[in-house]
Amino acid sequence: MSTTAFSAIDRRSFLLAGVSGAAALALAPRAQAAMPPLREFTLVAAPAKVSLVGPPHPDTDVWGYAAQVPGPEIRVPRGQPIRVTVENRLAEETTVHWHGVRVPNAMDGVPFLTQKPIAPGASFVYDFACPDAGTFWYHPHQRSFAQVGRGLSGALIVEEAQPLAVDRDVTWVLGDWRLLNDASISDDFGNMMDVSHAGRIGNTVTVNGRVRESFAVRAGERMRLRLINAANARIFGLEFDGHAPLVVALDGQPVAPHAPDGGRVVLGPAMRADIVLDMTGRPGEKFRVTDTFYRNLQYRLLDLAYGDDKPLREAPDAKPIGLAANPLPEPDLKDAERHDVTLGGGMMGGMMAARMDGKSVDIRTLMHNGLVWAINGVAAKGHVHDPLLTLARNRSCVMQLTNDTAWHHPMHLHGHSFRVISRDGRPTPRREWQDTVLLAPRERAEIAFVADNPGDWMFHCHILEHQIGGMMGVIRVA
Ligand code: C2O
Ligand code: CU
Repeated sequence: MSTTAFSAIDRRSFLLAGVSGAAALALAPRAQAAMPPLREFTLVAAPAKVSLVGPPHPDTDVWGYAAQVPGPEIRVPRGQPIRVTVENRLAEETTVHWHGVRVPNAMDGVPFLTQKPIAPGASFVYDFACPDAGTFWYHPHQRSFAQVGRGLSGALIVEEAQPLAVDRDVTWVLGDWRLLNDASISDDFGNMMDVSHAGRIGNTVTVNGRVRESFAVRAGERMRLRLINAANARIFGLEFDGHAPLVVALDGQPVAPHAPDGGRVVLGPAMRADIVLDMTGRPGEKFRVTDTFYRNLQYRLLDLAYGDDKPLREAPDAKPIGLAANPLPEPDLKDAERHDVTLGGGMMGGMMAARMDGKSVDIRTLMHNGLVWAINGVAAKGHVHDPLLTLARNRSCVMQLTNDTAWHHPMHLHGHSFRVISRDGRPTPRREWQDTVLLAPRERAEIAFVADNPGDWMFHCHILEHQIGGMMGVIRVA
């Protein structure tokens, strides 16, 4: 254990220093003079022990990057070439997926589809630049229901050239754990009960890897709070008592600043929201942040605890809070290919049969294979299969997603961001860019994007138990 701890500290300082690879540049013929210098990071995936719940509870055995949960926050300027070496010191294969980042296909981290999984003891080098500024995250794509659930994930923050004028830029990675009484992780990952219902919803919610009583704030300050839902299955609906959050970005992409519906910030698994919070309370006051998403299961996430310092300013800051748009191609709705995608299955879904491995099988056979969900009637086993859709490169595409189930599904497309242009037939007021769209039971949504990133891309539910339960497919851009 002590050698692991030592190397973790070592890695962390290495990582935070963000060593610029002058030597590597000299050797790499494609890195020419005008490029900003390459920045290198190392992520070691390994078992670790951390205090999730805090004393008097014992530490928890987790799987972490750099022996931390969540992994180290990677921060890079937009467009900066980066190289991340992932070392696998787990006892099983892994990969890293850069969620929401429009990377070249070979860097997408999907086992067997875009790369060979990284064997125990081996490493893999990811080389890419982030074309969009915003809040992203990274996590394994191999057995992610277990690997993410044991702690493997971290924030990837891509900085704007012109950052928001705030007093503090804060990231909250929200985690959800199913712990036993001794604070160890329940190892019932992927059980059919979770797979066929709402997924693995845990009993312990952490903010940046720790159950927290409070978060210290100063009266008068303006904070940019980057919320990342890194849970396997839990949907969050956060309410900030006494405060008026404004959403300025969703899934990393700027959106017209607005108050969330009903004052509640809703985040399905994998989704992010950047909010601007003005600390309008008085020194010494306390306000609750509550998660009210699941009826009758509300709980206090933590308190915003005001320190005694005199307010930083008396009236809220008048500076504008809009973010400049990222360079996303605008879909041409009049000329778009249209596709229907229907989600089926699950408990109370009435699915009697689906296609598996190219043939139609009944629900008993599906269940026997751990499958209960389907997209367009196909229950997917593994990451590699015939494409659900093949899209012409650089064509605009509108996908109508229909949730024909009794459950929520956060549907994620790799390699692209899309506009959510309608819900249940009504145009959305902000046509927000997302990489993950949360569909309520029986809801319909239309998404639109330009299929400009060639390759085979995963399209799946980010409730990780639904993903292994069949709700996944490949979209080919050719
Ligand atoms: Cu966040 Cu397919 O992944
Ligand atoms: Cu789902």
